[in-house]
Amino acid sequence: MTAPPVSQLLDLTGKVAVVTGASSGIGRGIAERFAEAGAAVMVHYRSGRAEAEALVGELPKGHAVGGDLCAVDAVEHLFEETERSLGPADILVNNAGIYPMHSILEAPAEAWQEVVDANLRTTHLCTQSLARSLTKRGAGGAVVNIASIEGLHPAPLHSHYNAAKGAILMYTRSAALELGPHRIRVNAVSPGLIWREGIEEAWPEGVLAFETRAPLGRLGRAEDVADACLFLASDASRWTTGANLVVDGGVLTAKAF
Ligand SMILES: NC(=O)c1ccc[n+]([C@@H]2O[C@H](COP(=O)([O-])OP(=O)(O)OC[C@H]3O[C@@H](n4cnc5c(N)ncnc54)[C@H](OP(=O)(O)O)[C@@H]3O)[C@@H](O)[C@H]2O)c1
Repeated sequence: MTAPPVSQLLDLTGKVAVVTGASSGIGRGIAERFAEAGAAVMVHYRSGRAEAEALVGELPKGHAVGGDLCAVDAVEHLFEETERSLGPADILVNNAGIYPMHSILEAPAEAWQEVVDANLRTTHLCTQSLARSLTKRGAGGAVVNIASIEGLHPAPLHSHYNAAKGAILMYTRSAALELGPHRIRVNAVSPGLIWREGIEEAWPEGVLAFETRAPLGRLGRAEDVADACLFLASDASRWTTGANLVVDGGVLTAKAF
């Protein structure tokens, strides 16, 4: 494969990208950035229909579809609707996830499982659906899984989330191994703490601790994560698969004691 010119490295023109959980936060940032790079974007949402449809209105080419991606039917519907409205998907970003807090001593079994499923099961079901479609078409593609620094370094009250994100990192390598021969690359992005509306008021001590410990001295922004995803979805990373790109302002380099 010859390397494209630098000006085309991040160009997604002609590609169809599915971004899960894209009605808010990081997913929204990824959808916007991919659209800017030329992709037609499927903006998936679970409860944020109005936000997803408003975002689609701002993109050159996009469509919105809802659904709980723990359900196989909803995943099939997402990819069928993508093909019907935009064409068959080439790129998938598994961004959907939840991160409530529960202690190990008190977590109800269902709540614990819900966190694992919303992060890990959705990632597998969507990856499988895209991979089946790509292999049937004989086409290559790219999957980017949004993990977290908590998949590498545990945070308190997040045993379910830490475990699910750690599992996503190993799932990423497993999928890279199995799907590479089909020209499907699978990589992960592990963000640190990302700014969202009201976070300074809701969690001042967390923000201060992060800003103090991270060598780059600030919270991340959705665009910081989106650009890492763009690299891994594009030809710029054509020989990278099974990797985990940590995007955390360097906070994991902070001394442990
Ligand atoms: N924010 C951070 O600091 C941070 C740091 C590291 C990693 N991450 C990861 O980045 C991703 C996005 O986080 P965010 O902070 O941007 O959160 P967010 O704004 O709450 O976005 C998460 C999206 O995922 C959707 N979702 C959750 N469970 C789902 C399910 N079962 N089926 C379908 N959609 C589902 C949510 O739908 P609803 O709106 O209906 O809930 C929402 O649209 C997550 O995977 C998160 O773990 C975030």
